Amino acid sequence: MPFHFETPRLIIRNFRDSDLEPLLAYRNDLEVAIYQGWKLPYSRESGLELIANTRDKEAVQQGEGPQLAVQLKDTAEMIGDLGLFVFRRDARQARIGFTIARGHWRRGFAAEASTRLLGYLFDELDFHRVSADCDVLNPASWRTLEKLGFRREACHIQSYPMSENQWNDEYVYAMLKSEWVERRVKR
Ligand SMILES: CC(C)(COP(=O)(O)OP(=O)(O)OC[C@H]1O[C@@H](n2cnc3c(N)ncnc32)[C@H](O)[C@@H]1OP(=O)(O)O)[C@@H](O)C(=O)NCCC(=O)NCCS
Repeated sequence: MPFHFETPRLIIRNFRDSDLEPLLAYRNDLEVAIYQGWKLPYSRESGLELIANTRDKEAVQQGEGPQLAVQLKDTAEMIGDLGLFVFRRDARQARIGFTIARGHWRRGFAAEASTRLLGYLFDELDFHRVSADCDVLNPASWRTLEKLGFRREACHIQSYPMSENQWNDEYVYAMLKSEWVERRVKR
């Protein structure tokens, strides 16, 4: 079965061929891309490859993705994606990431989509630990992680090659299943 999750405002699903244009649009937005791993310009070939590699994914597997598309329920617009990487060395640990197109920032979409993904990992798949890292200079990312209940565990100094001569610091955040369950009990 392909991935399909719903939240009050969003559908989280596999990428489709028709997602190519919106994917290229937000991935080529400098403000979206600045703290992300891809290089600009983000090419059509890269977009086609991402879609081809994730379109048919049906389960999470050690040492790989998937990358999932985030779509608005009311307009059907594809507005971003969630990244999920299951550790090669451990099937119950994953790293997540999120991207939302700039026109949709600060409306709670990253938190809403990620909460659903965490529910899938912790409640349905019984993951033990989910982590995320982000640039110290990217408060949108680390505030989203803190809103989700992630704990800041470390600050790695000059661990991210921002450009040829610039190394940025990165925070490492994580959440354990026990912390996820505890938050749910409190809510
Ligand atoms: C990070 C990102 C996904 C957040 O998406 P979003 O949908 O705007 O986030 P939300 O609306 O769910 O906000 C979650 C929290 O972060 C805070 N936040 C969001 N953007 C912020 C900003 N630019 N500055 C400070 N805080 C910010 C919000 O205030 C919110 O907390 P609150 O509800 O307590 O106020 C989005 O900014 C983005 O795509 N950035 C570019 C890609 C990127 O850097 N991804 C992360 C890579 S690790």
